[in-house]
Amino acid sequence: MLDRVAAGARVGGQKAGWGAARLAGRAASSKAPTHGEAVAKKLYVKTFGCQMNVYDSARMADVLAPLGYGSTTEIEDADLVVLNTCHIREKAAEKVYSELGRLRALKRVREKGGNEMLLAVAGCVAQAEGEEVAARAPFVDIVVGPQAYHRLPAMVARASRARRTAVDTSMPAESRFDHLPEELAGPQPGRGVSSFLTIQEGCDRFCTFCVVPYTRGAEESRPAAEVEAEARRLVAAGAREIVLLGQNVNAYHGAAGGETDAGELDLAGLIGRLAAIQGLERLRYTTSHPRDMTPALIRAHGEEPKLMPFLHLPVQSGSDRVLAAMNRGHTADRYLRLVEALRAAQPEIALSSDFIVGFPGETEVDFEATLALVREVEYAQAFSFKYSARPGTPAAERDDHVPNDVAAARLSRLQRVLDDQKRRFNAGMVRRTLPVLFERRGRHPGQVAGRTPFMQWLHVDGDDALIGSVALATVIDASPNGLAGALAGSAGAPVNARDGTADMASMGGIPA
Ligand code: 5AD
Ligand code: SF4
Repeated sequence: MLDRVAAGARVGGQKAGWGAARLAGRAASSKAPTHGEAVAKKLYVKTFGCQMNVYDSARMADVLAPLGYGSTTEIEDADLVVLNTCHIREKAAEKVYSELGRLRALKRVREKGGNEMLLAVAGCVAQAEGEEVAARAPFVDIVVGPQAYHRLPAMVARASRARRTAVDTSMPAESRFDHLPEELAGPQPGRGVSSFLTIQEGCDRFCTFCVVPYTRGAEESRPAAEVEAEARRLVAAGAREIVLLGQNVNAYHGAAGGETDAGELDLAGLIGRLAAIQGLERLRYTTSHPRDMTPALIRAHGEEPKLMPFLHLPVQSGSDRVLAAMNRGHTADRYLRLVEALRAAQPEIALSSDFIVGFPGETEVDFEATLALVREVEYAQAFSFKYSARPGTPAAERDDHVPNDVAAARLSRLQRVLDDQKRRFNAGMVRRTLPVLFERRGRHPGQVAGRTPFMQWLHVDGDDALIGSVALATVIDASPNGLAGALAGSAGAPVNARDGTADMASMGGIPA
């Protein structure tokens, strides 16, 4: 599963004027405004949940552009508001309904002023609760699941005339990747110096707590040639880092594609192919399942300098009994051996994980096993959650649910340990010189911020011109949330990722 992003990321600053060559029907034939033409209608997308949703939000902006929709950051001005939703835990799903309450009022205000505001609910809540959304919020015009986004333009075109909520939660037999527009919109969240690229969708693992196999459907990989073509477009548009996305990304097995290529590529093969793209400095991938960490992928962490030494590898629990009940398909020991192999291949590798506490039947002994695993691994960062029963999943049917107060107490104990580890990890960076890919302005004027190879945010005093390049920075201060540094050497002359990585290796490893 993927990491969460701050709720409310907006699709902003998008320009119209790209084709959607493969869009079907009416929508495809709608005239696309060209650069410089006034944007006819305004789109506001609010994204909840994981990076996959951030990527999908950008993709929805792409498919709506030929209808004349350009993005706005002012929700009050929007002719179309899309909520791209998350269903992973109950809280995430409930947020959608409270957001819809606010939007209903806004829609009324716009209508009183003679303006339309179409409301669309997209994403995993739409997929899982399509009819319920239509019933609980009949003022919603469109409910569209993640596999039907290519039909959004046609739904929008019809929605103004319709009186009822249009619901499309079908999971078409054809590949969900067949309908992606080939041209990219302008700047979007998740599309910049560091860009997301979905290479795999869906999941066949069926962890017993998880809704993803139901909301995102069966696992499917995009052909490697198509991934490479999109990566090249992203790099041409200014991306220096690409984060390959998938619900179970390391299960990737895409048709190689291309003129002469037969057969399939696994993730290690795909990384090798993408690493050859000139101008691309860094590659990352998320989220991986321990069962699908192949020896070739582990080796790639030692051999491919563009592959960053950071891995999000969710373990969920340290108890074999709980792992079996979760249907994770691995034991705590197997996970620890994987960590060992990864550190043998790349001694610098920083690890991250997801944890669920209070899974049905979890005892104090099980929970202690999770704490023991955490202490053994020593994570750079991690996400941890109280178990949330999701309708339709096997674990929700169990009758041995852990009382909320017990789960809450365990969560705060676990988070204390994880927070200490994160603080230690960041503090261990002080005085090190690291290659930083600068992505944006810092919080204060005159600052720029970027990511270290280990995913930490680091800011320095520096010029905007650094944005989009890798420069060496010496860490001078660390907090749990990030690092402060100073440009190293000759006022931060940009270095390429290879040089940076070489420098990093010569600094010695982080104490494991
Ligand atoms: N309850 C709590 N946490 C969950 N996750 C997935 N499903 C649930 C659930 N039902 C967590 C897992 C996953 C992360 C994205 O969300 O830890 O890796
Ligand atoms: Fe959900 Fe498990 Fe699939 Fe991750 S691997 S998406 S937790 S079912």
